[in-house]
Amino acid sequence: MRCNDGGPANLGLFSDSDLQQPARIEALGPQSRVLRGFALPWIEALLPQLDAVLAAAPFRHMITPGGFTMSVGLSSCGQLGWTTDSNGYRYSPIDPQSQQPWPAMPEVFRQLAEMAADAADFKGFNPDSCLINCYQPGAKMSLHQDKNERDYSAPIVSLSLGLPAIFLFGGQQRGDKSQRVPLLHGDVVVWGGVDRLRYHGVLPLKDGSHSLLGRQRINLTFRHAG
Ligand code: SIN
Ligand code: FE2
Repeated sequence: MRCNDGGPANLGLFSDSDLQQPARIEALGPQSRVLRGFALPWIEALLPQLDAVLAAAPFRHMITPGGFTMSVGLSSCGQLGWTTDSNGYRYSPIDPQSQQPWPAMPEVFRQLAEMAADAADFKGFNPDSCLINCYQPGAKMSLHQDKNERDYSAPIVSLSLGLPAIFLFGGQQRGDKSQRVPLLHGDVVVWGGVDRLRYHGVLPLKDGSHSLLGRQRINLTFRHAG
C-alpha cells in the first residue's frame, strides 16, 4: 500500500503506542469533531482491506485543472471516486487509470465511517465514496472546500493513518483564520451541518517513520457524493 519505496510496513500489527483507550472527542466548531483514537480498535481489520483496494487501484498523482501535479497520491473505493484532470474536479464511477469501476468499499470501512459519524451526532451516514490520500514527507493539501458532492447534507468523515500531520481547519471564507489541529494515527475528524463547507487543508508532512505504515500518512475521506 505504500506510495514510497521504503522497507516493509508490518501491516496488520498493533504498535506499542496504539493504546486501546476510549475515543476522546474534541469540538472544532458547532458541528465538527475530532474523535481521538477512534479507529485504533479497527486498524487490524482495516489495513488488509486497504492493501487489497490499493492493489486494484494504486496511488497516482493527478493533475489539477490549473495544470499542477498534486503532491498527494490519490486512489478511491466505493461507487464513486474523486478525480481531477485538466477538465476539472469530479466524481466518477470509473477509475480513469484502469477504466474499470473503483474497487468496492470494504464493509469495515463503511461501518467505521457510519459509527464515527454517529459519534459526532450525524445519524445514518451512508458513504458512497472513499477517497484515499497518500502523503509522503513534504506532501500537502492546500486550503479548499469539499463541494463536488451532489448535496451537502451528509458530513465528511476523515480518518488519519500513519505519520502525524497538521490539519488546518478554517472558516467559511478562504481568508478566515485556520485552527491547526495535530492528527495522529487512528484519529477521525467529522464535519458537517453548518460546518460542512469550512475550508481545510494539510501542512507539508514532516518526515518520520510510523511503526505500521512507514514513511507516509494515509488519509481516508468518506463522503456521500452521488
Ligand atoms: C482532504 O481534505 O481531502 C484530505 C484531508 C486530510 O488529508 O486530512
Ligand atoms: Fe477536503
